[in-house]
Amino acid sequence: MAYQNIVFERAGAVGVITVSRSTVLNALSAATTQEIGAALREVEADQALRVAIITGAGEKAFVAGADIGELRAMATATAARDLSERGHQIGFEIARMSKVVIAAINGFALGGGLELAMACDIRIAADTAQFGMPEITLGIMPGWGGTQRLTRLIGPGMAKLLTLTGERFGAAEALRIGLVERVVPAAELMTVARTLADQIAGRAPLAVAAIKQAVQRGMDMPLADACMYEAALFGEVVASEDGREGTSAFLEKRPPVFKGR
Ligand code: COA
Repeated sequence: MAYQNIVFERAGAVGVITVSRSTVLNALSAATTQEIGAALREVEADQALRVAIITGAGEKAFVAGADIGELRAMATATAARDLSERGHQIGFEIARMSKVVIAAINGFALGGGLELAMACDIRIAADTAQFGMPEITLGIMPGWGGTQRLTRLIGPGMAKLLTLTGERFGAAEALRIGLVERVVPAAELMTVARTLADQIAGRAPLAVAAIKQAVQRGMDMPLADACMYEAALFGEVVASEDGREGTSAFLEKRPPVFKGR
């Protein structure tokens, strides 16, 4: 598929999606969101790809939020609600994917940009990145899962503090509150993200998918149900060809060769 608002590149087993709208700091128009969804579906469908990275073009912005021009033009509550629900679908698609999606946050991750990053499985940030949920300063509220994923990631008090003030904060604070998993020097961001992606891409695909789903779906279940779900997945993974290969390789003191079966 030809994209207008993103660049989609394959690098080995990694699909790199770069949001690229330089005149608006990579803000997400409806068309951009659709293209990100389409690229993620390409990654999921391509046997050769194991991991996706989402990043922003240039050094200044990951994604500076929803496109405020488009928001301003929303004439009705129904239209805005549709936009919100389409944004939610991307988050649900990422959650359902068997492959891992890493956000490489290279600059401003504000509003919808931070919501996109929060919907990813793992977040790596440049030490220069800036974060915030500024919707409240525009007289509106987060609408792409922000009130919910922020709460699940950092707890209700901090989620309310950040969404009610709209204050901006840096990468060290994002790391401290558990909003990102790693902070690295800006110049090394893509190398670190690629190394992590390659590492996960080299692991047994069934185990990667099962771990992701156990964490993802388990969060929405009571603990006992989630543990039963984990046990079912554990059964499948241990009995898989790759499960037998990995354990045999350890005992035979050789590197495993995983086949995704
Ligand atoms: N939607 C649409 N356009 C945006 C945008 C967004 N979310 N974020 C930035 N832009 C545009 C600006 O309007 C500006 O356009 P112009 O050159 O035609 O004037 C251009 O991108 C550059 O932004 P600018 O504000 O000049 O850069 P800055 O370095 O002074 O400030 C930010 C950077 C990110 C702090 C500032 O752009 C900003 O606050 N953006 C909005 C963030 C936001 O509220 N996001 C949530 C939306 S729900």
